Amino acid sequence: MRKNIVAGNWKMNTTLPEGLALAKGLNEALKGKTPNCDVIIGTPFTHLASVAAVIDTNKIGVAAENCADQAAGAYTGEVSAAMVASTGAKYVILGHSERRAYYHETPEILKTKVNLALANGLTPIFCIGEVLEEREAGKHFEVVDAQIKGSLFDLSAEDFGKIVLAYEPVWAIGTGKTATSDQAEEIHAHIRATLAAKYGKEVADNCTILYGGSCNAGNAKELFSKPNVDGGLIGGASLAVDKFMPIIEAF
Ligand code: 13P
Repeated sequence: MRKNIVAGNWKMNTTLPEGLALAKGLNEALKGKTPNCDVIIGTPFTHLASVAAVIDTNKIGVAAENCADQAAGAYTGEVSAAMVASTGAKYVILGHSERRAYYHETPEILKTKVNLALANGLTPIFCIGEVLEEREAGKHFEVVDAQIKGSLFDLSAEDFGKIVLAYEPVWAIGTGKTATSDQAEEIHAHIRATLAAKYGKEVADNCTILYGGSCNAGNAKELFSKPNVDGGLIGGASLAVDKFMPIIEAF
């Protein structure tokens, strides 16, 4: 059976002291509670090791928000998957629309990053999603299919089984404009069918598919009630414990 997950993506927010305070606050809020989902926080590289050191990593998984497309060497400023794994992080967010748009990450680059993440024991949280013009042109299904096929479909079924997907319509990210739960369910079901056609029903049924894009305490319950929506990847609302906890508790 697939896991439900609520994951935060802090993006380029919080100084180290602020990030540590946020992580400790979440850790405190989860004490004595057993959420019905796995909880993950995605933090800037600079915070990973210190965050992992101050939380109960059995309760909260730590994710990087990116990793390099090279294993090691003369790549000034880059952070490898091995380095991420050495901090205690267990996950890495890859293919976020902000990285595709602003840092020109292509399906081919992302394929390399996914392979390096898996080779270093990290679980990729792989983001896909269409921009507004693509949705309005009715192309959202083919866009997400191409993103999945372009970066993931060379994986063995065993390796694909380690991937978490996050459907994040770009028009819903940071805009306050959430996809309706029916829109999310429709495309999540489509994604699962695409996975089933390639890897079979069992692999598809076991794949966790998160929704991301203006998910908050007010809409999480409705979104997570849909059979193919297995949780959320949360941006803005993951930056405050009192906004993030109700999303975790929406399961
Ligand atoms: P918001 O929740 O701020 O819309 O961001 C979503 C997102 O991009 C998570 O990766």
